Amino acid sequence: MTDLTIAIAKGRLQDSTLELFSRAGIVVAEEALRSRRLLIDDESRRYSFIFVKPADVPVYVEYGVADAGVCGRDVLMESNADAHEPLDLGFGRCRLVVAGKAESAARGYNPLATARVATKYPRVTADYFQQRGVPVELIELSGSVELAPVLGLSDHIVDLVETGRTLRENGLVVIDTIAELTARLIVNRASYHLKRASVAELIEVLRRAVGETI
Ligand code: PRP
Repeated sequence: MTDLTIAIAKGRLQDSTLELFSRAGIVVAEEALRSRRLLIDDESRRYSFIFVKPADVPVYVEYGVADAGVCGRDVLMESNADAHEPLDLGFGRCRLVVAGKAESAARGYNPLATARVATKYPRVTADYFQQRGVPVELIELSGSVELAPVLGLSDHIVDLVETGRTLRENGLVVIDTIAELTARLIVNRASYHLKRASVAELIEVLRRAVGETI
């Protein structure tokens, strides 16, 4: 039985997350990572890692199946999950933006017309447009969101921008930045108290490893 179970977001943050843990002295064997196993212990056998879709990290942590997790702030903003967020891990820096074709960016939002917006982030998008008094029709997609305005499926998108290359190469521009994002450590509220010593140690070794890279 390991001390803590930690949910890791698969995909763009996974490698940087495992590098950070490794710098913090928590190492997962290469061989185990190459396997298809979704539950893997670190070499010290103090930590079990589960590898899940980014949006599922807060779910596993909120329900306590995982004591802690690493995911992007975008996922936390969208999920509304109830968990401690003790540490900004500093990597995975990108922005959540509203984007569209240059013509639609120049026109701005029309408060009298419903904006069609394609996104993986329906909750954040609805809040953003509601705060600006712009009626919105949400079109939920699960990837390649940039296609929507190009093909006329939507007027705008709300999506991540890291290098800006995907927008540029599809003829889209940023209209507004909703949030600056990085990867975050989250901790289950009960684990925070019931496994206080283990959780405090995890936060401390990660904090030091993050400090070394900033
Ligand atoms: C993300 C995001 C953008 C792209 C931005 O997609 O949704 O499409 O990366 O990166 P850039 O600014 O460096 O071009 P991801 O690769 O995660 O895949 P997805 O399209 O399936 O969401």
